[in-house]
Amino acid sequence: MSYFMGVLGGQGANPAAALVKDGELIAFAEEERYNRIKCAPLAIPVGAMSHCLETAGIGLDRVEQIGFGWDCERYVREIPAFLEQIEKRFGVEENDYNRLHELRLRLSLDPSRVRTDYRFALAKRGYTLDERKIVFHRHHLCHAASAFYCSGFERASILTLDGSGEEYTCVLWEGRGTEIREFKNFKLPDTLGGYYATFTEFLGFKPDEEEGKVMGLAPYGRHDEQMQEKLGEILRFDPATGDFSVDPRYRFFGPRSQGQRYTDRLVASFGAPRLRHEPIEDRHRDIAFNVQWRLERVALALARQTIAATGIRDVCLSGGVAMNCKMNGLIASMPEVERIFVQPASGDAGVALGAAYLSARAAGVTKFSRFEHAYWGSAYSDAQIESALREAKIEYRRSPDIVEETATHLAQGRIAGWFQGATEVGARALGNRSILANPLISDMRDKLNREVKHREGWRPFCPSVSEDQYARYFPGAPESDFMILAFPVADEYRAAIPAAVHVDGTARPQRVTRRANPRFHALLKAFGRGSGHEMLINTSFNIQGEPIVNSPRDAVRCFGGTGIDVLAIGDFIAVKPGAVR
Ligand SMILES: [Fe+2]
Repeated sequence: MSYFMGVLGGQGANPAAALVKDGELIAFAEEERYNRIKCAPLAIPVGAMSHCLETAGIGLDRVEQIGFGWDCERYVREIPAFLEQIEKRFGVEENDYNRLHELRLRLSLDPSRVRTDYRFALAKRGYTLDERKIVFHRHHLCHAASAFYCSGFERASILTLDGSGEEYTCVLWEGRGTEIREFKNFKLPDTLGGYYATFTEFLGFKPDEEEGKVMGLAPYGRHDEQMQEKLGEILRFDPATGDFSVDPRYRFFGPRSQGQRYTDRLVASFGAPRLRHEPIEDRHRDIAFNVQWRLERVALALARQTIAATGIRDVCLSGGVAMNCKMNGLIASMPEVERIFVQPASGDAGVALGAAYLSARAAGVTKFSRFEHAYWGSAYSDAQIESALREAKIEYRRSPDIVEETATHLAQGRIAGWFQGATEVGARALGNRSILANPLISDMRDKLNREVKHREGWRPFCPSVSEDQYARYFPGAPESDFMILAFPVADEYRAAIPAAVHVDGTARPQRVTRRANPRFHALLKAFGRGSGHEMLINTSFNIQGEPIVNSPRDAVRCFGGTGIDVLAIGDFIAVKPGAVR
């Protein structure tokens, strides 16, 4: 019996840690849930590592190896030659050298520095790290492993797409058994994640974090041929294969007087960027639409190329770009695709999981358990929950039937904070740290946006549906348990569940099985008994700008500070006095 840990953190966003025992996943969590800073940029994931060890009930000495999801050792050696290639390809001008230096700094991670930083950070928590236990894995191989080994597929076509991991930005793979073989890659500056992040910033959102807002805004815009021509200057691609290149002069080289991720050349082409506080106009909606449309065309063609090369119709996706559930849904619907698995933690958190698997595989493990649910974070006892409620002087009681009672509140239009079991890993709340509401009420979306989420009114909410009624709303759609794929909602239900359908008639569902989450499944059934619809709106339990709540104390704080009416936490219930009139 051997334990292997995987980590990433100390450089980019979304640091995380995962622990596997042989091939079986034991724990997996993101650092932001512990340090309470959204995406936890630059943090070393000591909170998540502690969670893994505590869940297994072991000390760090029992961990055989710690896989780190960035191949510093190889990359540090190869950076100079790689930068030279970029220089040659683009004829870099004098004042672009500081950009190259910036790239060097961003990508360089000195292996001995990583080892020392982790040793110091862990020492502060009382853990003694033997630095030799840290080994480095290729970032994209970790992404690939995080999807393929979790998929339950014997063989798969695998696509990993992100901003960049070392110099790689997109890799196409074939997975067979435990072998993952690369057959094509794309390197910086050709990056789909970078392309999308550039327009995320240009449209006034936070790059590397709020890409989902561009995706959510896109269906409000229109296709524009002229704009596609302009985008074609930036992101060129071969429609037959999806092979693509990105012109760095629009996002990297040259003067950047108005933004971090776009140059003045981009402004000259697309007009003034939107600042965060400025209203969203038709022009911005159209940019979002066309940026998304072009990404989709590239991704679909890349998927087709991968399937053609491997001859395998089961597809695995991961990497930050695979957070784009609209793109994922289109890939899932391709006639060439048989089954699809998208790693729910597709961003860099998933790299920690892949790194743990790769370390296990290197030690001879050949079987990995399927990723059937995402509840791998912290769980709390009744005593811990009660202590948080008492401390906050909240009036609460133990419910004789928390499921029935919550379903009644939801049926009556109240908004419920639903805190049960272990925290989900990944960006989506999947029924353990969720804010739930009634999808049949027409102004529920606005009410949630206004009173609870404090976010832009145009952003859609996602539905959770029982496995028994899933096919009714999403006929023909593949089973999707992690809100990572978007599909059209059956025509006859669009009007019945207005709060769960986006403007383009799609939704990003979570199919809830009794097996994965019995209590949440029971709640959907209970709600369905009165309403006929075993469906609820499910949005993450957090205050805007903060990570999803983790501990009971976080939940109580969010409950108190927002318009949530009812808190269903473990078997306890708290109802705000003003909520029942
Ligand atoms: Fe990545």
